[in-house]
Amino acid sequence: MSEEPTTDAAADGGQQDGGQTVVRRDRFSGGPARGFLSSMDADDRIFEADLAVDRSHAVMLAEQGIVPEDDIGAILVALDDVEEAGFDALPAGEDVHEAIESAVIERVGPAGGKMHTARSRNDEVATCIRYRLREDLLDAVEAVNLLRETLLAVADEHTETVMPGYTHLQPAQPTTVAHYLCSYEGQLSRDAARLLDAYARTNESPLGAAAFAGTPFDVDRERTAELLGFDGVVENSMDASSARDFLYEGVAALAGVATTLSGLAEDLVVFSNKGLVELDDDYASTSSIMPQKKNPDTMELVRSVAGDAAGGLQGLLTTLKGLPRAYNRDLQNATTHAWETVDAVVEATEVAAGAVGTAHWPEEALADAAGEGFSTATGVADLLAMHGVPFRTAHEVVAQAAKAAERTSGETASDAGEADYEALDAAAREHLGESLDEAVGEDAVKAALDPAHSVAMRDSRGGPAPEAAEATLASATEDLEHDRTLVGDARDALAAAEDELAAEVADYV
Ligand code: ARG
Repeated sequence: MSEEPTTDAAADGGQQDGGQTVVRRDRFSGGPARGFLSSMDADDRIFEADLAVDRSHAVMLAEQGIVPEDDIGAILVALDDVEEAGFDALPAGEDVHEAIESAVIERVGPAGGKMHTARSRNDEVATCIRYRLREDLLDAVEAVNLLRETLLAVADEHTETVMPGYTHLQPAQPTTVAHYLCSYEGQLSRDAARLLDAYARTNESPLGAAAFAGTPFDVDRERTAELLGFDGVVENSMDASSARDFLYEGVAALAGVATTLSGLAEDLVVFSNKGLVELDDDYASTSSIMPQKKNPDTMELVRSVAGDAAGGLQGLLTTLKGLPRAYNRDLQNATTHAWETVDAVVEATEVAAGAVGTAHWPEEALADAAGEGFSTATGVADLLAMHGVPFRTAHEVVAQAAKAAERTSGETASDAGEADYEALDAAAREHLGESLDEAVGEDAVKAALDPAHSVAMRDSRGGPAPEAAEATLASATEDLEHDRTLVGDARDALAAAEDELAAEVADYV
């Protein structure tokens, strides 16, 4: 790529480039590194944001008497036209900011160059990223909320569906499908809160910071912040144009969501393998050679997005690490990590919601599996402890019985119920000096050995007993409603600002 010839047009702010007017090309045309310098490939994402930033800045310049109203009117008309023509029609430029400015100058003439008075691309791009990212963060919260709603709806149907609960992937204690699903809903509610926290700190305006050092013009930073729907301004101008902590906060929150999803996805892969859940055909895939296969591919891909998100966070932090103040061009490459991460995580969250909402939980297979591996043993130990046996002694009784009955995994409760009782009774006689019947009553022990009864006994707050699960469902539903209100309020505020900006612009065009 050869360096472009300069022309006279450069003298008044523009220059011809293959028939198109461009700005700032008199000396630094980019030459062979032009493509390398350019962020145009990624900037489509902030095209609308940049137009909004340009409009609010222009309105403020007119209101403050910094640029005459006539010029601002012409600039605002041009911006409408640029928007109409679309991103792909933009003239060449190092980035979308430069390209839009060129497009405005093309339409308005040299006075179009007044749009860039009292600002820099540094505060401009920081404002655009925040403007766009806040929408993306709200999309992410909505996707998470959809998954929460789905988990709660399915849980509501399965408060009495007994299933095995695992620790170390070994059968541990019976629980219910509702209790299991609500465990992920709880984690996702905190993921949503983290995204909303990130939203609050993203939603502050850097505009008016200029390159980093402020500006001698009498800009009204609160006014542009208001017109763009920001909750306030980033105070220090060097902080405003260079800091990207809002990016890593958002990406970290997204990586948290992806990590939560990966656990849920892994469970569903394992449960599919054990025949404890069946994904709908829409969320499964088959083999190109083994036609009988139904594979949980969607869940495997959801699981993998945690890798993408962690990679995005790592890439972002590594890019930011050690950057000196103030603006450095590295920041241009930091941004793409955020876009890639938010896209991957939102898509995975929506797919997870679809898969959870359509999966089938086979109640019989779940109930059988719930008794595997002497999984009700802890309930028997609890029963002994309720009758005054020190828990540690009760633990020994049950451990000895489990060993004697060789019930570490595999068999179902119905296979082994009687044998389990016998083994427990023998252990009780040895450790307690009395029969199990004398210690707590045969019926009570046999009930405790039954998975459904075992679940019903565990009615502590947040536990799996159906009434405890109902309470969890009720409060989780309330929390979800609350979070949805927060998102709705945020969306409304952004829409109101958009309307206000459009109304102000209408006064000039
Ligand atoms: N496209 C750039 C970015 O994304 C903004 C340009 C600021 N450029 C500069 N040389 N100061 O960060």
